[in-house]
Amino acid sequence: MRLWSFRIEFSCFSSNDNDPKEEVSLDPLDWNDTRYLGHQIMDDMMDYLRDLRQRPTWRPIPPEVKEIIATSALPLHSQSPWEVYDEIRSIALPYVVGNIHPHYWGYVQGSGSPIGALAEFITGTMNTMSWGGHQASIYLERQVLSWLKELMGFPTDETSSGVLVSGTSVATIIALAVARNKFHNRTMKIYCSNEVHSCLARAVDLLGITRTNLIVIPTNSQRQIDVEALKASIDSNSCGFIVGTAGTVGTGAIDDLEGLADLCASHPENLWFHVDGAIGAVARCSTRLRPLFTGLERADSLAFDLHKWLFVPYECGCILIRDGQLHRSTFAQPPASYLTLLDGGITPSHGELYFSDYGLELSRNTKAIKVWMTLKTYGIERFGRIMEQNVDQALYFARLIEQNSNELELMAKTTLNIVCFRYIVHRSNSIDQQPMLNELNKRLLVLIQERGIAVVSPFVIGTNTFALRMCITNHRTKLSDMDTFLQRVIKLACELVNTSEFIMLNKI
Ligand SMILES: Cc1ncc(COP(=O)(O)O)c(C=O)c1O
Repeated sequence: MRLWSFRIEFSCFSSNDNDPKEEVSLDPLDWNDTRYLGHQIMDDMMDYLRDLRQRPTWRPIPPEVKEIIATSALPLHSQSPWEVYDEIRSIALPYVVGNIHPHYWGYVQGSGSPIGALAEFITGTMNTMSWGGHQASIYLERQVLSWLKELMGFPTDETSSGVLVSGTSVATIIALAVARNKFHNRTMKIYCSNEVHSCLARAVDLLGITRTNLIVIPTNSQRQIDVEALKASIDSNSCGFIVGTAGTVGTGAIDDLEGLADLCASHPENLWFHVDGAIGAVARCSTRLRPLFTGLERADSLAFDLHKWLFVPYECGCILIRDGQLHRSTFAQPPASYLTLLDGGITPSHGELYFSDYGLELSRNTKAIKVWMTLKTYGIERFGRIMEQNVDQALYFARLIEQNSNELELMAKTTLNIVCFRYIVHRSNSIDQQPMLNELNKRLLVLIQERGIAVVSPFVIGTNTFALRMCITNHRTKLSDMDTFLQRVIKLACELVNTSEFIMLNKI
């Protein structure tokens, strides 16, 4: 099946693969042919981005495409790159979850940018391994980290440290490992709210800290960690890793970061203040939103993502650690013989930074170029404006829901860019409506996705209330999309409620 196709003539590679004596390479015989392919790809990708709005937000992969993918044999011999590209255009490009589409508001996913995509091409061309050494990518990463420290209110000198990682999940593992190193030989308890992201529990498991040391604190009516309950729970015989979240994944609630910072500052030898800023930390780009995150700048460790609300292409997260020496001592290993540092050359023993001393990876890709190009091209001010725009869109949508309270219900306070809501129907009888509403809203969510209208994602409020969750981390979304979406949701829900199947099932 070909969705797009073009005539292709090609010249192939620089060798006869069947002649065992001939030296082979992956470079083309005819560079111009590859250049033309590159131009073609570039044109197609720019059209792909330009025309996003004309396509459905998401569409399922047809069975025949799955079949093509599943039956593709191990490629033993060379094939025309034009053909290979043509195939990828057909089987991959149309079937994405849609997070670059203006109507994508599911989970917490960034929508990338044209410049970020171009930066990926440069990065791939350089293909430099960024573990360290005397090379530009390391200097770019150092400077990018210095910018990020400045943005987050961290000390910008070398007393603090940081590293670009794949995302907040990995950043959290690093933060926990560094804190454990500080408190070595003592029991460390992890305190977090019941709204914390699941990556924390995974990090606890991976590091062998054990779940019994994970203390879950209730939240208040604003869905923030209850600081008084936290204080009462702290075990003074052990050390504590206190987690504050700067934008919870469920509703976007922001913990009282100042209160948590004060608490940790009162026992600096025993308490470590960690902030999960995956969603919200970068909102410090906006002077209007920044006060919501006061206290974040006092964290001992701050994990956050650039691939979400800063629109750097996947993957890109960051961990900042206030005590840079402690960070390095947690991960640095005596160099293996093949990594021996020398008096000069590409691996000098003095003056260069080795990012492999600050995280889990030795082989690392280069993330700094896409961060550098994205931040410089668009500028912090523009990111701040987009974040304000997204928050205003969320607040506007929340107001629309309240104005349509006969049909829709707002399920949580909107503080940032997340709106949780559900469709409601009133039944005359007195039977518990919850199971029916949960069923209806689950179906509604799937239909919104399957009709290509938009992508929102699920969230269960409390123990059993199913909500649709809209999270706007999208520079392509417009305010008018909120009105259109609301109308479509109501129309679709009415359609659903009036299906005979639904009436029979629920005796509305
Ligand atoms: C609050 C929060 N923390 C952590 C994570 C995990 O981040 P990542 O997917 O970048 O590993 C997420 C992901 O959505 C999140 O929303």
